[in-house]
Amino acid sequence: MTPEPEPTPRDWWKSAVVYQVYPRSFADSDGDGIGDIPGIRQHLDHLENLGVDVVWLSPIYRSPMDDNGYDISDYHDVDPSFGTLDDLDGLIADLHARGMKLVMDLVVNHTSSAHQWFQESRSSRDDPKRDWYWWRPARPGHTGGEPGAEPTNWGSAFSESAWTYDPGTDEYYLHIFAASQPELNWENPEVRQAVYAMMNWWLDRGVDGFRMDVINLISKVVHDDPPDLRDGVVGGPDRQAGPIDTVRFGDPGPYVLHGPRVHEFLQEMHQAVFAHRPAGLLTVGETPATTVEQGLLYTDPARGELDMVFQFEHVDLDSGPGGKWDVVPMTPADLMASLARWQEGMGDVGWNSLYLGNHDQPRCVSRFGDDSPEHRVRSAKALATVLHLHRGTPYIYQGDELGMTNAPFRDIHDTRDIESHNAYRAALSRGLDAEQAMAAIRYKGRDNARTPMQWDATEHAGFTTGFPWIEVHPDHVTVNVATQADDPDSVLAHHRRLIELRHQEPVVVHGSFATVPLDDDRVHAFVRRLDGRELLVVANLSSDDALEAALPDAADWLDAELVLSTAGQPDEQERIVLGPWEARVYRRG
Ligand code: GLC
Repeated sequence: MTPEPEPTPRDWWKSAVVYQVYPRSFADSDGDGIGDIPGIRQHLDHLENLGVDVVWLSPIYRSPMDDNGYDISDYHDVDPSFGTLDDLDGLIADLHARGMKLVMDLVVNHTSSAHQWFQESRSSRDDPKRDWYWWRPARPGHTGGEPGAEPTNWGSAFSESAWTYDPGTDEYYLHIFAASQPELNWENPEVRQAVYAMMNWWLDRGVDGFRMDVINLISKVVHDDPPDLRDGVVGGPDRQAGPIDTVRFGDPGPYVLHGPRVHEFLQEMHQAVFAHRPAGLLTVGETPATTVEQGLLYTDPARGELDMVFQFEHVDLDSGPGGKWDVVPMTPADLMASLARWQEGMGDVGWNSLYLGNHDQPRCVSRFGDDSPEHRVRSAKALATVLHLHRGTPYIYQGDELGMTNAPFRDIHDTRDIESHNAYRAALSRGLDAEQAMAAIRYKGRDNARTPMQWDATEHAGFTTGFPWIEVHPDHVTVNVATQADDPDSVLAHHRRLIELRHQEPVVVHGSFATVPLDDDRVHAFVRRLDGRELLVVANLSSDDALEAALPDAADWLDAELVLSTAGQPDEQERIVLGPWEARVYRRG
């Protein structure tokens, strides 16, 4: 008799590694310059060789593509530029056959303005779907459409007012993102039921969970007495870090982030969609401006909300009072201090998502590492070591496993992102010149992460036989999958070993986390412990040479097994001294 297979534990995702595919930029199968689902299916060997367990697919739904698919006009269909529903079913089947899962992006804080729901909603003030979105009249005493008549002073994440006037019905609608991304009104139970039905439809089709876009924005603060929505603080000290320009606009943060009903809605969703299904699914919420305390509320399994969240503290460290484009300096020490706080704060109750990059962030090696030719590989490996060995579920963004870097955009015409284009226009209108406006976009612009995946050294990096929708990074001639796949010293091979370690070592998955405080804040050290097993990770997060990781028990650790190293076998006996961006992992017990 064959033994019964072990049942999947509810928290299977603790030992999983997730890989994010940004479909537009991953692989193009038909030469139109836009990545597509058949292209993904052609490259599954890469993911399997890397060892990842789950693919998170950024949106492939039907969309006008104002925000590259985060503006959905039909939740039940695939955009023709990406393929068909059959292609998607095929991708799900291929992944399952290889033992991998597929997590879809779920964008339900807003729809596209081209969605049928919004078309109906905007058609008249009496339409049954009017209340599915946030419609408000002009500010009292003002005429709709004139400057300053917006119902509140809120700024959007894309450098404009958060309100757009609709002359057809003489009212404004709310959008925290682009004007073509109207916010759904989750106060309306019909909206919530429609969303849950759609989620169930996808799970029944075979997908394994959802990454939920800006899910902590779904509940807004609504006052009982007019005006029910209130102005935000302009330029105030309470600003929420992130993309909102709180110098020019009021900060909507306190009214739209973690609103009063957000936990109720998530618990209701959990009951309606997940609670009755067998284990094997994954939910991760994208939650900007979240504190450790809030992170615990979202991810405590006893509350039945989400498995884990993407918090933003570490990716907001280099944002100043003016928001995302107000770039301020940040050091790897700042990064590590922030991550360590989350490591310790989430404790045994919650669970962390571990990420250093995604489709909204610049390349992590350019931002937190050193992308000079001398240090690119080493710094990418050091960052990967920390990423994979912290406690939580690691997320690898496509191309980061190769150490891809920020793009050398010459001017705004090289970029495609609506966020960058709006920010550029806003910067020029504030009196900055083109070069000043580009400085922040070159550093922080989202297109840095959206240049095509680099498969090989051929003309368009093996991404397309046509003309790519955004230029391929010129460094693809050296930085690509083909050159790294069989090179044991590559960034790719290092990621592979780190993933293997997680799959083999329960201490990586379940071990406690403790930072080892050191005098030199360029060196990050932590110990993971489980049932007598200990793992020490030391990493020099700088390009400086010969930094000592002055652990009190350094000599003992030097006797322990060196499981992973980015710089070969050291010959030290007493002191741990690290070269630039050198990382080591020791194991004992
Ligand atoms: C999330 C997405 C981002 C998108 C925004 C609006 O932050 O990750 O790409 O622009 O939501 O949907």
